[in-house]
Amino acid sequence: MVLPYKHEPFTDFTDESNKSAFEKGLATVESYLGKDYDLIVGGERISTEDKIVSINPAKKDEVIGRVSKASRDIAEQAMKAADEAFQTWRKTKPEVRADILFRAAAIVRRRKHEFSALLLKEAGKPWNEADADTAEAIDFMEYYARQMLKLKDGQPVESRPGEYNRYSYIPLGVGVVISPWNFAFAIMAGTTVAALVTGNTVLLKPASATPVVAAKFVEVLEEAGLPKGVVNYIPGSGSEVGDYLVDHPRTRFISFTGSREVGLRIYERASKLSEGQIWLKRVIAEMGGKDTMVIDKEADLELAAQSIVKSAFGFSGQKCSACSRAVIVEDVYDQVVDRVVELTKELTVGDTTDSSIFMGPVIDQAAYDKIMEYVEIGRSEGRLLSGGEGDSSKGYFIQPTVIADLDPKARIMQEEIFGPVVALAKAKDFNEALEIANNTEYGLTGAVITNNRDHIEQAREDFHVGNLYFNRGCTGAIVGYQPFGGFNMSGTDSKAGGPDYLVLHLQAKTTSEML
Ligand code: NAD
Ligand code: ALA
Repeated sequence: MVLPYKHEPFTDFTDESNKSAFEKGLATVESYLGKDYDLIVGGERISTEDKIVSINPAKKDEVIGRVSKASRDIAEQAMKAADEAFQTWRKTKPEVRADILFRAAAIVRRRKHEFSALLLKEAGKPWNEADADTAEAIDFMEYYARQMLKLKDGQPVESRPGEYNRYSYIPLGVGVVISPWNFAFAIMAGTTVAALVTGNTVLLKPASATPVVAAKFVEVLEEAGLPKGVVNYIPGSGSEVGDYLVDHPRTRFISFTGSREVGLRIYERASKLSEGQIWLKRVIAEMGGKDTMVIDKEADLELAAQSIVKSAFGFSGQKCSACSRAVIVEDVYDQVVDRVVELTKELTVGDTTDSSIFMGPVIDQAAYDKIMEYVEIGRSEGRLLSGGEGDSSKGYFIQPTVIADLDPKARIMQEEIFGPVVALAKAKDFNEALEIANNTEYGLTGAVITNNRDHIEQAREDFHVGNLYFNRGCTGAIVGYQPFGGFNMSGTDSKAGGPDYLVLHLQAKTTSEML
């Protein structure tokens, strides 16, 4: 019997035994730093001359791994392998597919701290954030396996006397899974296993900044018994391999998580018919955010300040869910701003190998340059109260930055920065605060700190975001508890880790038999 789903608990690192288990994980990762990783196509290893070099963003000269890079020819080979594997995988029992996820989750759980340590090295995560990323990957496998077991017999429909009607779900075909570097394990694994547990085959193109954790995960899937060709590991350039596969006539669906810009490009290209294509491609896109916390005057102001700081600067603000702006009702504005600045100044920044460091680096030079540019824009648009400095000599470090007194239409109040910068603005009352909260083109997460019940209900109706939280921060959705995904330019309104997510990877077939 399958036990009911329960999310993977986070590790308590104040416990010395957990701390030393994590240190052991770090030692394991250190033992394989700098290794080469092959592409995996139809179960075969392919090594290319051209490599993606994955580095530690906290220590630029530390190479995490050198990963072979797919060309268009290899992408074509992978498409053929996935297309062929689909013919048997689609007929493999859902129970067998689910079992592979349960086994893969068990393998990852046994190597939990090694995976988290790898995320620390490859993505620059602090211990708690890396631990949460690994826990979320486990959750996706445990949750989607159970969801598949619920969907395997389809949905009930009515039958008239003398007929027998059935409504079943069948897979779509070959899916291209394109994942981001910020939840390098959870989102990469979650989008991959959702596609495969539903009977589809996958071409996995992970982000170029974090391909090693994806390689390690594909090895886990193999160990768990996944047949050859069901998941093909093909890191490569977005514009070369990405465009090629998005346009490919045999691509049946694309599951993308990343920026608004790339999401729109994929959505547009996928809508065009390629020669030989006989279906409309489905696109599941999870895109950016400009997430707002609203602070009411009747509120726990300490909770407000703590939640802003944690949601803004956790993993250096590099979460689609991060609080990148707070709108504070004028009666309590000065008090909340002062406390946010005080708390921000207490944060430590550095190489997160040291477990006491709160915030690590940003992911790469391009991100560093872009964020520092926004800091300068922020200086001219508002009042910089904390941070504003960066140092990219050894790694890509930026101080947590608070900019206040912003106009709601200021650029740093509108554009996704994806770094440790929070913009603060004043509203005359709660109504105006909600108006400002809704004034971007995104709609991913939001939070309201208030003790006013009417305001909670008003926000529940009018704050237009996919994930709305009350009296807590706006990050940290848990699979199966807070299904995750946004509105408007934040994506295609899907909800990862939710009860209707798997259906996006399926098509319904009606059969009607005369008795
Ligand atoms: P990105 O858009 O730069 O890259 C995402 C993926 O797309 C990468 O694998 C990249 O190689 C690939 N890609 C790039 N060009 C491509 C093309 N032409 N065709 C196909 N694939 C292509 O995003 P990122 O920097 O990796 O991640 C950060 C962004 O992701 C932020 O905007 C963040 O808000 C968003 N994000 C959203 C969610 C969500 O659930 N809504 C979750 C995490 C991240
Ligand atoms: N699921 C992640 C969060 O909620 C993105 O922070």
